[in-house]
Amino acid sequence: MVDIKNVVIIGAGQMGNGAGQVALMAGYNVTMVDIKDEFVDKAVSKIDEGIKKLEAKGKLGGGETAASVMARCKKSTDIASAMKDADIMIEAVVEKMDVKKEVFKACGENAPPHCILASNTSTMSITEIGKASGRPDKCIGIHFFNPVPLMRLIEVIHSDDSSDESIKIGLEFSQSLPCLRGKRYIAEVLKDRPGFICNRITAPVGIYSGYVYDKCAEEGKTWEQLDNDSAGGAMPMTVLIDYVGIDTVYHGANYYAKMLSPDFAPSKTITNFYESGNLGAKTGSGFHDWSKGRPQQNKKAGKARIYKLKYPLAIMLNEACRVLEEGITTSWEIIDNVLMAGMNMPGPMRPNLNNSAKQCEVLNEVADLTGKDYLRPCELLKSEKWVDMK
Ligand SMILES: NC(=O)c1ccc[n+]([C@@H]2O[C@H](COP(=O)([O-])OP(=O)(O)OC[C@H]3O[C@@H](n4cnc5c(N)ncnc54)[C@H](O)[C@@H]3O)[C@@H](O)[C@H]2O)c1
Repeated sequence: MVDIKNVVIIGAGQMGNGAGQVALMAGYNVTMVDIKDEFVDKAVSKIDEGIKKLEAKGKLGGGETAASVMARCKKSTDIASAMKDADIMIEAVVEKMDVKKEVFKACGENAPPHCILASNTSTMSITEIGKASGRPDKCIGIHFFNPVPLMRLIEVIHSDDSSDESIKIGLEFSQSLPCLRGKRYIAEVLKDRPGFICNRITAPVGIYSGYVYDKCAEEGKTWEQLDNDSAGGAMPMTVLIDYVGIDTVYHGANYYAKMLSPDFAPSKTITNFYESGNLGAKTGSGFHDWSKGRPQQNKKAGKARIYKLKYPLAIMLNEACRVLEEGITTSWEIIDNVLMAGMNMPGPMRPNLNNSAKQCEVLNEVADLTGKDYLRPCELLKSEKWVDMK
C-alpha cells in the first residue's frame, strides 16, 4: 500500500477548498492548484480563515496550531510540477468533460507511477475521465458532499478499470479525513453509474416535482401556496430550488434524461425560468424575488393542494431498489446510511421493509398521474427480494 503524504487538489473552488482543508487537518501536505494565482491565493486564504476559526474554538487537535497546519499548504498553477511527488490527486475543476480529461492527461504524464488520481465529479463517467490519464487502473471517484468539512458522506467510486488496490487506498484515505459533524461515512460505489448512490436516489423525485410546478401554474395557484403543501424541511420546496440554482436543476434533469430515461427532461416551468435567465437566488429572481434576501414562507396564503409527500417517499424507495438491481451497492442498510450521511435525510428502505406492495400501488398511481412510466415500480421492488439484501 502507498503511504500517502502528499495530496494535490486541482481546482481550488468551493469543493477543492473543502477537500484541501480536511486533508490539511488530517496531517497531509497539500498543494492547491488552479489556473490563476489569484484563484489559488483566494482559496488558500479561505482555508486559512477556516483553520484559524477551528484553532480559536480549540478544535484543531493533534497539538497543532493554525500556523503549523498552514505550513503544510503549498500553492501552484502548474500541474506538471505540482504532481511530481504526489501520492494522491483530487480533481475538483468545473463540471466539463474536456477540462477534466485535460487535467487527467496532464496528471498521467507527470505523476509518479503509484499516484492515485481521483475525480470529485457529481455526474460524469469516472471510466471516461480515467482513460484520458493513460493509467485508468489508478483512477477512481472520490465524491465529497458540500460543505466537505461538515457533510459526513464520501462516496468512493469504482470505474470499469479501477484496480482493487486503488479503491482500497481511496477508501482508507477518505476514512482518514476528519469531519466536524460526527464520524465520516464512506460508501464504496461498485459501479460507475449516473448519480452514484446518493444523488441517484433523489434524482427521480425531480420528475414528480416538475409535474407539480406545471400543475400549479396551470391551475393558477401561487408558489407560496405550493410551498404550504409540504411540511417543509430546511426550506420550502420552491425556495430550495431557487437556492440550489435553476440552471443546476435544468442541467441535472437533462443529464439524467440522456443517461437514464427521457422522463427526466426538465418541466415547462423549469425550462421557462432557465430560458428567461431567472435562475433563482444567484440572479435575484426565480420562483421567488430574492432582492430583499431569502423569501419567507407565507402560511396565510393557504395551500395549493397539489403536492403529496407519499409520492417522493415511494419514488426514492423505487430508485434505491434500482441501485441494488444495478449492483451499484449490495445492501439497503448502506443506502439508508448514505442518505443520512449525505443529505441528513432518513433513508427510504428500513421504514418500508413490510410495505413493498403498498408502495408499488403508490408508484403506479404517480406514474398514471404524471404520465411518466419511469416512476413505475421496478422488478426488485415488486418481487420484495430487496428486503433480504441487508
Ligand atoms: N458544489 C457542489 O455542491 C458539489 C458537490 C459535489 C461535487 N461537486 C463537483 O466538484 C467539482 C467542482 O465543483 P465546485 O462547486 O467546487 O466548482 P467551482 O466553480 O467552485 O470551482 C471549480 C474551480 O476549478 C478551477 N478550474 C477550472 N479549470 C481548471 C483547470 N484546467 N485546472 C485547474 N483548475 C481549474 C476554476 O478556476 C475553479 O476555481 C465539479 O465537478 C462539481 O460537479 C460539486
